[in-house]
Amino acid sequence: MKALVAYSSNTGVTAEIAERIGEVLSSEGFTVVLSDLKKENPNPEGYDLVLVGSGIKMGQWIKESKQFLAVNHQMLHGKTALFVSCGDAAVPKKKANAQTKYLDAVAEMYSIEPVSTGLFAGCFKWNKYNFFVKQLVKGILKEDGVIGVNTSEPLDYRDWTRIETWARELAGKVR
Ligand SMILES: Cc1cc2nc3c(=O)[nH]c(=O)nc-3n(C[C@H](O)[C@H](O)[C@H](O)COP(=O)(O)O)c2cc1C
Repeated sequence: MKALVAYSSNTGVTAEIAERIGEVLSSEGFTVVLSDLKKENPNPEGYDLVLVGSGIKMGQWIKESKQFLAVNHQMLHGKTALFVSCGDAAVPKKKANAQTKYLDAVAEMYSIEPVSTGLFAGCFKWNKYNFFVKQLVKGILKEDGVIGVNTSEPLDYRDWTRIETWARELAGKVR
């Protein structure tokens, strides 16, 4: 079986998640093609499973992932999983809204009935931000009760076991 893992990522966080998902699917017997939608425009035809992922910025999917869904949604019906990495997934009181806004609403907007959706807590890579973005992110984190962050290293909320389990269960659903 063939799987396409197509993603857009601003600071590399979702890219690393996509790679890990790809590794799990390979170990489950899938032939996996990883595709960075900022660089490529893959054709989803001929794949048994298509995963589309995105980082979230200011409440939005990255535009290349949205474009991929807009262009290909008819071909994606019945064989697609959606996943995002974002800050809100790491905040208990914001999680449910993140699932609705970043996954359920996006699936509905493009008329996709996903096989599965993955809401993953992301990572803040301070070295990728300019001064203003750093201040903005620190402000958002402060509202969420995260104060005095050490910006000399990434603030990484990714739960790799959860991500791997999700990918393994997805493989099981499709096989
Ligand atoms: C400028 C900026 C805006 C962000 N806006 C949001 C947001 O609106 N909601 C959210 O949950 N996370 C937000 N985040 C957190 C990112 O979604 C998170 O860091 C994600 O893992 C980034 O993935 P990427 O590097 O693949 O794009 C924001 C991060 C930055 C730097």
